[in-house]
Amino acid sequence: MAQSTRFIALSSVCTLFKNNCNVSSHTAKSMSSWWSHVEMGPPDAILGITEAFKKDQNPKKINLGVGAYRDDNGKPFVLPSVRKAEERIRNKEMDKEYSPIAGNAEFCKHSINLALGDSNDVVTNGLNATVQGISGTGSLYIGATFLSHFFSGNKEVYLPTPTWGNHAPIFKLARLPVKTYRYYDPKTCGLDFQGALEDISKIPEKSIIVLHACAHNPTGVDPKPEQWKELSTLIKKRNLFTFFDMAYQGFASGCIQKDSLAIKLFLKDGHKIALAQSYAKNMGLYGERVGAFTLVSSNKDEAQNTLSQLKILIRPIYSNPPINGARIVNEILGDSTLREEWLCDVKGMADRIISVRQKLRNNLKKCGSSRNWTHITDQIGMFCYTGLKLPEVEKLTKNYSIYLTKDGRISMAGVTSKNVEYLASAIHDITK
Ligand SMILES: Cc1ncc(COP(=O)(O)O)c(C=O)c1O
Repeated sequence: MAQSTRFIALSSVCTLFKNNCNVSSHTAKSMSSWWSHVEMGPPDAILGITEAFKKDQNPKKINLGVGAYRDDNGKPFVLPSVRKAEERIRNKEMDKEYSPIAGNAEFCKHSINLALGDSNDVVTNGLNATVQGISGTGSLYIGATFLSHFFSGNKEVYLPTPTWGNHAPIFKLARLPVKTYRYYDPKTCGLDFQGALEDISKIPEKSIIVLHACAHNPTGVDPKPEQWKELSTLIKKRNLFTFFDMAYQGFASGCIQKDSLAIKLFLKDGHKIALAQSYAKNMGLYGERVGAFTLVSSNKDEAQNTLSQLKILIRPIYSNPPINGARIVNEILGDSTLREEWLCDVKGMADRIISVRQKLRNNLKKCGSSRNWTHITDQIGMFCYTGLKLPEVEKLTKNYSIYLTKDGRISMAGVTSKNVEYLASAIHDITK
């Protein structure tokens, strides 16, 4: 039945009902529409920027809002190693059967080994429960849901201020109360290490703390190795449970080992952690939605029990994960030659971002800017937290067609050797 016909039929039934049975107009109204109480929600902040960018006719416009890598021509980039992996998969003419609930076992093993290094003690001793997730977001959500059901401590989640915009909604959706600890210092555009230590030392024991393993989003500010050490010691002392979000392994410094340093350090210090991984950025598999969630336990039995419960939670949410992204990851990480090529691809992306940071700083200096811009090169990863205030951000967009989030965050991936001069002179103009 067409939508309009169905609606008319339903309204006539209501009228009949109302006339004959004296049903209140409220009931009649609610019967003709189930959703009249639903209000229009706000649009997604980042997707809104892209919409405005698309409408802009200025040929010099730049979109610095999107969190996806672009090459030096501003185009989306498919890694050559990924193309090769796809070619191999095509030639294998594989079936399209369902994946197991926890995902592909080989994929799970590759993922945890990528994070912790080959022949690590956790995997050797069977202490990890690793499941394939729907990219980083889905992996975080599975982890959050597991904690909501089974965490025996204080079910409060402490997030850094600021943090990725999806963290709080994910944990809240899993019915975990969200609180914060200081992380970023707007005065220095760097880490508020003292503030973080002070706040963390006041978090109630046995709570959950979320840490970005590398390339903190949105600030690009990461602790130094010795600061990670201090954080680990304090978090251990407070008996907090650490949930690492690692969405950028390899993408930050160009080195997968360096980017996972904090996780390995925490494990060495005896933390039993949760870990969400994503292949969106480091393999450019954004739309494939491939990632992993790991829970590290104290012994093998616990690991097997937690794995069984993770599967029970996953089953009614999406039954089992998609197969294609996991196959690409397996092809790359399971073959030493292709793996080497991938490592070069990741380094290429990271190096371009690092070099364009330097170019932006140099160009600001060339324009005569007297502001201190050292944080542009001190920060790392996809994003730069420029320190620009809302009126400055609005001017950049209005006067120069440069689009960025209201907090002054720019995606360095949108900066190229061709637009960096224009960007620098625009920033200088609105800040001088
Ligand atoms: C800190 C952080 N965590 C997780 C994600 C998850 O991304 P995805 O679900 O695309 O893997 C992102 C993506 O921007 C992120 O920045």
